[in-house]
Amino acid sequence: MELCIIGSGYVGLVSGACFAEVGHHVVCVDNDKRKVEMLQAGKIPIYEPGLEDLVHRNVAAKRLRFTNSIEDGVDHSQVIFIAVPTPPQVDGSVDLTYIEQVAREIAGVLKKDAYRVVVDKSTVPVKTGEKVEATIKRYNRDADFDVVSNPEFLREGCAVPDLMNPDRIVIGSASNKATDLMKRLYEPFKAPILVTDINSAELIKHAANSFLSLKISYINAVASICEASGADVEMVADGIGMDKRIGRNFLNSGIGYGGSCFPKDVKAFISIARQLGTPFALLEEVERINAHQLNRFIDKIRDALWVLKDKKVAVWGMTFKPDTDDVRNSVAIDLINRLVSDGAHVTAYDPKGAEKAVDWKLVDPAKVRITKSPLEAVEGAEALILATEWKEFVNVDLAQVKAKMHTPLVFDGRNLFNPETMRELGFTYFSMGRPTVKP
Ligand code: UGA
Repeated sequence: MELCIIGSGYVGLVSGACFAEVGHHVVCVDNDKRKVEMLQAGKIPIYEPGLEDLVHRNVAAKRLRFTNSIEDGVDHSQVIFIAVPTPPQVDGSVDLTYIEQVAREIAGVLKKDAYRVVVDKSTVPVKTGEKVEATIKRYNRDADFDVVSNPEFLREGCAVPDLMNPDRIVIGSASNKATDLMKRLYEPFKAPILVTDINSAELIKHAANSFLSLKISYINAVASICEASGADVEMVADGIGMDKRIGRNFLNSGIGYGGSCFPKDVKAFISIARQLGTPFALLEEVERINAHQLNRFIDKIRDALWVLKDKKVAVWGMTFKPDTDDVRNSVAIDLINRLVSDGAHVTAYDPKGAEKAVDWKLVDPAKVRITKSPLEAVEGAEALILATEWKEFVNVDLAQVKAKMHTPLVFDGRNLFNPETMRELGFTYFSMGRPTVKP
């Protein structure tokens, strides 16, 4: 089938490449000229495992191309996806300006007698589909189209496998013709398809992300109780996670959830619920617990080092999770900045995210020394703090780490290391929701 995707961010670009991979012809549209030129030149603006190969292969096979022109995309496609950002506003509600603008632009190029399905893939508040439909009709009375909601559930860092093998595909539609086209489009993915009304599909996305955030905050609250009682949160998570009704996924305690989705979507869901007159206090508690995690972690560091001013600390990890270069709303970045404001001398290492953290001015290179390797970061350090659980850190020779450090003190914000191994190696080792070990 012929389709176009408006917006070449994480969701748009990865979706475009995966649709092309299963045989569809895809035009990716973006209004950022520089980004389109980069993509046309074969350069990928984001790091996502497997994406580069996928893009190159499908461009070469002439199933994937990039353009600035919405008209070009819409003219050549039966299905038009909207995958533009929906950033948060100061009050937590969602800024829908880009969606509205794209709806108007689509209206401007839709032709009479050329039926199109306009699909919203961006994360939007319930009832946005109704507004997109009304907007297109207002700006083009003759347009022949249907609006569909098709939320995306991919995770950064494993976006390609998530898209190629989704748990489910949600199609929110009020038209059989549009639903049939969407089913044909997704047929090659061999995944269960759930057809709903448009409002329910939109709500599924916010409800899913909020539930996953709730799971994380739940285990983080349990971790506090474990710390206070001497229990081990990893064992507790295993024990409750073995119950199939609960499941072990997303029960990893740490310094809190971050990224461009969970913090924003929980806030948005709280705001949507409030606007609809049905406040969602449970989610406010989820946010409170999440913010508290970093405070608890910093308290542990302060307790051990007493005064942070002029202490030399190394931080491993800057991205909001491993296998991505994304540093947006990364708790690791907040942590680094809090240490700096307490006067600590921070050296930081990240396999992929350091450049963006500096370029986007999230981290001040005059105050944080960025290193090229994890070992270089720990040179002379009085503490090592692990903020993101990159696999690379598991493979670092910890005996060498200890030899390079001034004091063998490790604060593991993601429970990456085994406490017994750390004890045997001679570290004093703090983690989340587990007893502290000393040599
Ligand atoms: C999340 C959802 O998992 C995707 O299904 C969704 O499509 C996406 O948001 C989105 O709305 O676009 P993502 O933000 O890429 O995906 O990353 P996650 O793997 O969900 O991690 C989010 C945060 O939660 C990270 O900071 C991670 O460290 C943290 N986390 C995750 C925990 O602290 N504990 C866990 O057990 C799992």
